[in-house]
Amino acid sequence: MALKITVIGTGYLGATHAAAMAELGFEVMGLDIDPAKIEMLERGETPMFEPGLEQLLRAHVAGIEGASGRLRFTTSWEELADFGDVHFLCVNTPQKHGEYACDMSYVESAVESLAPLLRRPALVVGKSTVPVGSAARLARRVAELAPAGEDVELAWNPEFLREGFAVQDTLHPDRIVIGVDGGRAEEVLREVYARPVAEGSPFVVADFPTAELVKTSANSFLATKISFINAMAEVCEAAGGDVVKLAEAIGHDERIGKKFLRAGIGFGGGCLPKDIRAFMARAGELGADQALTFLREVDSINMRRRGHMVELTREAVGGSFLGTRVAVLGATFKPDSDDVRDSPALNVAGQIHLQGAQVTVYDPKGMANAARVFPTLGYADTALEAVRGADVVLHLTEWREFRELDPAALAEVVSTPRILDGRNALDPDVWRKAGWTYRALGRPQA
Ligand SMILES: NC(=O)c1ccc[n+]([C@@H]2O[C@H](COP(=O)([O-])OP(=O)(O)OC[C@H]3O[C@@H](n4cnc5c(N)ncnc54)[C@H](O)[C@@H]3O)[C@@H](O)[C@H]2O)c1
Repeated sequence: MALKITVIGTGYLGATHAAAMAELGFEVMGLDIDPAKIEMLERGETPMFEPGLEQLLRAHVAGIEGASGRLRFTTSWEELADFGDVHFLCVNTPQKHGEYACDMSYVESAVESLAPLLRRPALVVGKSTVPVGSAARLARRVAELAPAGEDVELAWNPEFLREGFAVQDTLHPDRIVIGVDGGRAEEVLREVYARPVAEGSPFVVADFPTAELVKTSANSFLATKISFINAMAEVCEAAGGDVVKLAEAIGHDERIGKKFLRAGIGFGGGCLPKDIRAFMARAGELGADQALTFLREVDSINMRRRGHMVELTREAVGGSFLGTRVAVLGATFKPDSDDVRDSPALNVAGQIHLQGAQVTVYDPKGMANAARVFPTLGYADTALEAVRGADVVLHLTEWREFRELDPAALAEVVSTPRILDGRNALDPDVWRKAGWTYRALGRPQA
């Protein structure tokens, strides 16, 4: 009998995982505590923007014409527990209010809801990013609560998908990492991931703490790489160097590599910032805080970028924001997503607005989420409308649409053709030729 799979928490990670599992041929049931999300998913609509996800849902959600019918959704824990052989926990693990530590209450609540209903053999698989030590603790809790006793096991299977590429990354992961503590967990997960493994995805089996640490250390490395190049951008600015050229040159070294070396306003989103902070907090609890003090610097370089962008903008408009009009292109934390969680773009827009400028934002997909987080900013329906009458234009999220803008057309409607590229993603020559004053972080002013 093929395994039946459930997915608990149908946000960015869970909705994608559920659809991908159905695509791999499994019968899947998704559950969320947000009934509005479940209703949307049942209609084959995505509660968020993620390229390719809606098509995948529509190919599998039961009740949709032509769909495989392998994917269903529910809000009933009973139904879910009766249905599943493998239960993936995909709930959110945000930063605690007022602390660096991870808020585990959503994971704990999901376990408390599910485990007492597990009357038949099952594997509970955590995918959420959690502090090291959580899997062992939750395994004990599941064992205490589950009526099926030893027939219920727990494994940890951290997720590495990138928003914007989530479908591709879930169907064809660059690695699958599982943390297990004996039993049948490895065998079951080899069955779940048989197809990607057959297609070449490496399958790494580790113990609980190592699997948990793989995720937080990977994110720490990526955050460090971004802050490294942003630190170089600061030095370039001080010394009159060009960080884009520098990144190109060091990137030729295979040991360094070209990726994640684009200087700009730094990282944000629902993962990197909170994950490195939770990692520091957890290391402190374990008595290993010295090992991660560098992450404090990584975080501080990153946060400095936002302030620096605000200062460059202030300089560009003559020293004071009062009475100025600032256009902001981009609100999401990265392109090809509608996610504005801890978005540097929105943070910069907000700071400038709070300091007295009239700010108008345009983003291809993030407008609704941005307006919810920052309702007092101005929003325009197109890039052209956003820049109308602007004293300065800020490019803060590197959407393809912005690279394809016609600088000449924009120059006609702005008050002053002046652009600050917070992502080093536009072509300076093209903008300068169209009459713009172009300035970017970490590069000499022309
Ligand atoms: N988004 C990413 O790119 C990404 C990548 C890798 C890992 N992760 C990790 O995956 C986890 C989920 O992240 P996300 O971005 O999908 O978050 P999200 O906020 O988009 O989704 C979480 C979902 O869980 C639901 N939920 C909360 N408590 C629940 C409960 N007790 N029972 C059932 N559902 C519940 C919420 O309603 C929400 O729909 C986090 O730990 C995150 O760090 C995310």
